Amino acid sequence: MKYLVTSALPYANGPIHLGHIAGAYLPADIYVRFLRNSGEEALFICGTDEHGVPITLNAESQGINPEDVIKENHRVIQEGFDKIDINFDIFSGTHNDTHAAMSQHFFTKLSENGFIHEKEIEQLYCEHDKMFLPDRYVEGICPLCGYDGARGDQCDKCGNALNTLDLKEPKCKICSATPIVRTSKHWFLALDKLQSRLEEWLESKKGWKSNVKAFVKQWFERGLEPRGITRDLSWGVPVPVEGADGKVLYVWFDAPIGYLSFTKMLLDEQGKQWEEWWKGGDDVSLVHFIGKDNIVFHAIIWPAMLMGVDEGLKLPDEIPANEFLNLEGDKISTSRNYAIWVHEFLESFDSDIVRFYLARIAPETKDADFSFDGFKTSVNSELSATYGNFVNRNLAFINKFFDGELTGEFEDDKADDELWTSVNSEIDIILESYKTFNVRDALFHTMEIGRIANKYFDTMAPWALRKENKARCRQVLLNCVNLIDTIAVLMDPITPKSTAKVMAMLGQNGEISFADVKTRRIGENFKIAADVEILFHQIDQDSIDAEKKKLDN
Ligand code: MF3
Ligand code: ZN
Repeated sequence: MKYLVTSALPYANGPIHLGHIAGAYLPADIYVRFLRNSGEEALFICGTDEHGVPITLNAESQGINPEDVIKENHRVIQEGFDKIDINFDIFSGTHNDTHAAMSQHFFTKLSENGFIHEKEIEQLYCEHDKMFLPDRYVEGICPLCGYDGARGDQCDKCGNALNTLDLKEPKCKICSATPIVRTSKHWFLALDKLQSRLEEWLESKKGWKSNVKAFVKQWFERGLEPRGITRDLSWGVPVPVEGADGKVLYVWFDAPIGYLSFTKMLLDEQGKQWEEWWKGGDDVSLVHFIGKDNIVFHAIIWPAMLMGVDEGLKLPDEIPANEFLNLEGDKISTSRNYAIWVHEFLESFDSDIVRFYLARIAPETKDADFSFDGFKTSVNSELSATYGNFVNRNLAFINKFFDGELTGEFEDDKADDELWTSVNSEIDIILESYKTFNVRDALFHTMEIGRIANKYFDTMAPWALRKENKARCRQVLLNCVNLIDTIAVLMDPITPKSTAKVMAMLGQNGEISFADVKTRRIGENFKIAADVEILFHQIDQDSIDAEKKKLDN
């Protein structure tokens, strides 16, 4: 089996925050590392989502081109991913010819296959700017609550979704003139025609998460309707139809096609065939990591597009959708700047400890909360105390009393068998948890091995044993070295940098593999191979206070 793994394309209109990371990026990165450590072949695909109205509005307000907006944001987003060690095989973007050609091909095919039809609709038009106004280009009075400043698509005061034509005293956002109503031609994707096929397909996805299943069920019950997939705008992929000047594909139509066009870009460069993945049938597993706000697009609209083009393209095999991450008990808000920006936060804290805490609180089944105190406590008294400290106390002990080397007589005891039996049953749970997207459980049970390990060390009391029975003491320490090795191997998807450090200390320079994690053993004549360094530094209260302060500003 080959795995094609994607993360939702971040919107190139601003940097990304820890909520994004916890929802769609870190879980995917951990999964890909798990797969590779399990000997599986995987591609990890992502890139920025670069079209749509928010980007043009942003560009206009800054007096720059949309190109400049996406270029700068792509750079900052990439920087955030680099700093937190999220490594895509490709991190591209949707504003280029390859992507445009692929998107237009989708449109044309869907059209030929009878799933796209056109319709004239009424829309606001600004005679001053000579353009149809997309919803977000219009402001006016909310017909429901009277708020003066409602957007064409929604009122931020009462929260209701609006139809632009219902706004009272509408104004053009660019020039403030009053727009007029005109008819405009648009294209619609006939989701209604695909509903029964979609339902049948989704019926077969027995193991999918309940949040995804519940969501799509609601949509099916209400009945799918044709959905507009074009906009009157110049920024985007042109609609490939005669007479569609000034119209582009709706950003949500072209964005998911990025998964495919980026795969093509990556494999073209390597002289390989993208079809081997996207048309690979049951030999390939297609996994889309997303946040819960993206469910409808990935579980209904995107599969409908893939079905409708009818070219043997893969449908999603898994859609591990995560819930949201809150921050200190409140909703993250980019517009209020109430967020922890990745590229900034990772200036102050090492990637492994941030990855650890986000995995520890992963919003897998319900919304989770990032709190600075929780971050400090989890890192200091869990990660550092249970894992980091175990590494340190053992290796320091071997350095101090055994010159960093375990050679000579060794003596077994049946207590050791019991130790490995309990460790191995944890390993089964850990590997199964990674496989089924339960990172929290994988982490919890790996820490459980850490607790077992610390208990073993304390019970065996090598500080006394070294005087009474050196051979037995060597064996106990060697077991501890192997426990360190086991924990470090299992933690690799979550804290890869620390695993690399541990492997260097233990002199293990082979590839990390989960295939033999239960049986791999470092044998007699073990020698510490690098300086023993602290794996995780304690987080002090000052740096936590500084972060809290930043958030208040
Ligand atoms: N840009 C969207 C967001 O930030 C996600 C796009 S995912 C894709 O919510 F599948 F459409 F690409
Ligand atoms: Zn105007």
